[in-house]
Parts: sequence; structure tokens; C-alpha cells
Amino acid sequence: MSKILVTGGAGGVGEYVVADLAAHNIPHTVLDVREPAKLPDGVDFVRCDLMNKEETIRALRGYDTVVHLAAIPNAFVDPGEKVMAVNMVTCFNVVEAARENGVKRIVYAGSESSAGFGIHDVVLRPEYLPIDEAHPLWPHESYSFTKRFGEEMVENFARAHKIEGISLRYCGVWMRKEAEALTAMIEPFRRGERAEKPWFGCYVSAHDVAQAVRLATQYTFKGDEPIPFEAFYIMADTTFYGEPTLDVLKRIYDELPQVRDKSYYEANPEAPAFDIRKAKKLLGYQPTRDWRQIEKWDEP
Ligand SMILES: NC(=O)c1ccc[n+]([C@@H]2O[C@H](COP(=O)([O-])OP(=O)(O)OC[C@H]3O[C@@H](n4cnc5c(N)ncnc54)[C@H](O)[C@@H]3O)[C@@H](O)[C@H]2O)c1
Repeated sequence: MSKILVTGGAGGVGEYVVADLAAHNIPHTVLDVREPAKLPDGVDFVRCDLMNKEETIRALRGYDTVVHLAAIPNAFVDPGEKVMAVNMVTCFNVVEAARENGVKRIVYAGSESSAGFGIHDVVLRPEYLPIDEAHPLWPHESYSFTKRFGEEMVENFARAHKIEGISLRYCGVWMRKEAEALTAMIEPFRRGERAEKPWFGCYVSAHDVAQAVRLATQYTFKGDEPIPFEAFYIMADTTFYGEPTLDVLKRIYDELPQVRDKSYYEANPEAPAFDIRKAKKLLGYQPTRDWRQIEKWDEP
């Protein structure tokens, strides 16, 4: 079985990824700059600052797969120039260390925000709906830039060095520990109220991100791809608005963007603005958590 290293494994998403891999008896090691609050039995921890290239090269030695989660995970807390510096340098050091150590696969924590719609100070209009992996990416702030450019590093290392790359572009991750705050936000939608100033309403449970990460570590490339690289949008089966997504989008845009594949919303009117069918088809991804039941979700 391949040897897996999870960078950022002490973080919020990392905790779920580590628990899920352990629950499936998949051996792995956690790398982080800080010690994890808890670690499943048999999982080792390596302290490493990925800003340091030599340290990173040493830390990646001997692994087949690197799940790269470590990053500053949003644009709100740190200044943009710090987000750019940390996320770009850590990702560059990881792909370089992967190349130097003969790592076979990188599973990258991408983000739906790199499409340009997630963190919005301007309202960009999709060329078509649902937004799939072929839709152009228009990041326009620090965090989304880094998620996009990091993905591009992984893709181009796949092209140039044949290191298999998978980018999971997940949206806002919901965790059980945030249930109280999230409940306050979603309560009106549970009662059937409409969002006054809606946005896309995408979310995904950390459990399902962990599922997608595990599936990405196990995915088999066909071998005839021009580049051994795939990107996937990863989110829940619905938005958290509890109403048909095209109705929500009509309130955002004066004129609804072209709905290129109506069957997506006919089959599931509350499906997200993004298309998650590629992840379902190729990875076997199947969302398991619903926003209405967040208080019943389990801890990692
Ligand atoms: N949380 C979300 O909603 C969300 C959505 C989409 C994508 N993502 C991506 O998922 C990944 C994990 O996000 P998270 O919410 O768990 O963030 P987090 O902040 O909880 O965890 C990130 C971890 O990375 C570690 N780290 C940061 N800099 C490091 C360095 N220089 N060297 C080693 N470790 C370092 C931190 O110590 C932390 O444990 C990130 O790449 C983020 O961009 C998150």
C-alpha cells in the first residue's frame, strides 16, 4: 500500500482526513508546523515548516503520495501578501520536494473559490451553468489566486515530470464543531424563508472532503491521458438555501446565465451552481451529509 503524507494534517480539514484514512486502515503520516490535538493510534507526526525547502525535501523522503492541505485557508485573517507568500512558497516547496524524492502522486487542496465566484467583492457572471471543470477560472483576490496557482503548479509538474496530480476544488467546509454558528445562519432556510441577499450557497461537510481525499489517493489514471492530472469540484448534493438553485441564481443575476445542461437541475433542483458529476463518475464520490442535519453529524 502506498505511503501517504498528509501536510496540514493538524488543521481542521486535516483532522477529518486523518480520521477517515485511519478508519479505512490506510497507513499515513501527518506533517504540520504544529502538533495535532489528537492522532489516531499508529499515525506518526512529523514537524516541518514547509516554508523551508531543505526541511521539506527531507520530510517528503520515502512517500508515494502527498496530500497537500497545509495553507492559510482563507483571505480574511491575514494580509493578502502573507496569504500569497505562505501558500505559494509552501506549495512550490512541496511540488519541488515531490519531484526530488520521486513522489508518485500529489492530492492538492484546491478550492471552488479559484473559479472566481466564491470570495466575492465583485459579481462575476458564469459563462454557463452548471459550472464544470472546463469553465474558465477567474480568481481575483489573494487566497483564490494561491489556490489556482497552486493547482497550476501541480498540473504542470504532472505535465513535465509525470507526477500524478489531483486537485480537489472544494467549497466552504462545514465541520461539526461549527454547528452552533452554522445553525444560526441556516435556521431561516430550514423554516423555508428565502435568502434576502443570496450567493451560491455551496457547502461541503469535512467528512465528504475526507472521503474525496481518500478516493483521490486511490484513483487509477487510465494511462492514456495527455497529462496525469484531474481537477474535481467537491461539494454537497445541494445548496443550503432549501430552494431551487436556478431561482436563487435569478435573484443574483438580472438575467440567468445560460443553463447549458438543464438535466442537472431537473434531476435535483437544489443542486449547486457547480457540477459535481465528474467527481461522482471518476472518483466514485458520494456526498453523505446534509446541511439540515448538521447537529447530528459526528465528530472526526
Ligand atoms: N476550510 C475550508 O472551507 C476550505 C475550503 C476549500 C479549500 N480549503 C483548503 O483546505 C486546506 C486545509 O484547510 P483547513 O480549513 O483545514 O485549514 P487549517 O488552517 O485548519 O489547517 C491548515 C494547516 O496547515 C498548517 N500549516 C500552515 N502553514 C504551514 C507551514 N508553513 N508548514 C507546515 N504546516 C503549515 C497549519 O498549521 C494548519 O494545521 C487548505 O489548503 C485550504 O486552502 C479549505
